Amino acid sequence: MTLILGIETSCDETGAAVVENGVRILSNIVASQIDLHAQYGGVFPEVASRAHIEAIAPVVEQSLRDAGVTLDDIEAIAVTRGPGLAGSLLVGVNFAKGLVLARGLPLVGVNHLEGHVYSLWLTERESPVQFPVVCLIVSGGHSEIVLISEHGQYRQLGTTIDDAAGEAFDKVARLLGLPYPGGPAIQRVAEGGDPTAYDFPRALRGEGYDFSFSGLKTAVLRAVQEPYSGKRPPKSESLTPDQLRPEVNVADVAASFQAAVVDILVEKTIQAATAHGATEIWMAGGVSANAALRATMRERSPLPVYYPPLKLCVDNAAMIASAGYFRYVQGFRDDLDMDVRPLWPLTTIAQGVEETVR
Ligand code: KG4
Ligand code: ZN
Repeated sequence: MTLILGIETSCDETGAAVVENGVRILSNIVASQIDLHAQYGGVFPEVASRAHIEAIAPVVEQSLRDAGVTLDDIEAIAVTRGPGLAGSLLVGVNFAKGLVLARGLPLVGVNHLEGHVYSLWLTERESPVQFPVVCLIVSGGHSEIVLISEHGQYRQLGTTIDDAAGEAFDKVARLLGLPYPGGPAIQRVAEGGDPTAYDFPRALRGEGYDFSFSGLKTAVLRAVQEPYSGKRPPKSESLTPDQLRPEVNVADVAASFQAAVVDILVEKTIQAATAHGATEIWMAGGVSANAALRATMRERSPLPVYYPPLKLCVDNAAMIASAGYFRYVQGFRDDLDMDVRPLWPLTTIAQGVEETVR
């Protein structure tokens, strides 16, 4: 039995978890900072790192306590090294190094995107995984279609050329005066709306597996903004009620926007999976919590579709511990001089060798 302590601080959630053999969660603690960032309508980096500093020790202690173990039972420490906010990543990485130094434990740096992929190893399923699989990773910072041919073997088939899918949800929510984070807010409002009310663009349709969401955000702005107000909202602000067209039905806009994002994510993922002989489609990351995305993918995919339970879609440390376990058993170790990698692309790993995918 191998117990890994996972630590995650790449963005605005402070997470610690204990996972057995990469697949069984003994504890999974997440201290969310959503309330702190809601007033800014997005993640405020300095606020995030300060909050991680306050939360990290109690969160790690609680993860051990909840798992009913002590550091003596832990075999290695896995920590998110990137991609993410530098100041936030540093808190987790330095805390992990402190434990490693004090306890003489092995250190495994984990790519946050690989973590999202491994949330699928923590998801119940009826039959063993048959590679290759195609995973759609959709979060606040990423939208990627990845072919996984073996543990740690990735090929990026597509990515966003501008905004991430979650970022589009967050920006459109802000435009519509909905709260942060935008994904759950849009999903809620969209339930009462007509997804065919507006014909928003499906960018790069039929042109490979890359995504583009910035034009969609502009199309939503054009549809809802009062044309003669003469005031374009500053980038980070919502439209004030007098800048919204009076006839705008926010539920219809939200439902039509969501349908446009879901259509293109589903279409390209299915095309990529069938073209590359995948046996299954996986979805991971915060946007994979979206009910319309889940239902549409299941409905249209000729292949079995898997996604994690809601708690494992958003950032958490159990997925980092799981990814860390599989790296660990492949012989991967990091030194105490391991740095953070805020822009680290998903890399294919082999013993001591990294190869950037794509
Ligand atoms: O994976 P995650 O927790 O953090 C990152 O690594 O970015 O993803 C957060 C993103 C946010 O943009 C949020 O709006 C989006 O996931 N999200 C959703 C839903 N729940 C969270 N987007 C659409 N529908 C949802 N139900
Ligand atoms: Zn994430």
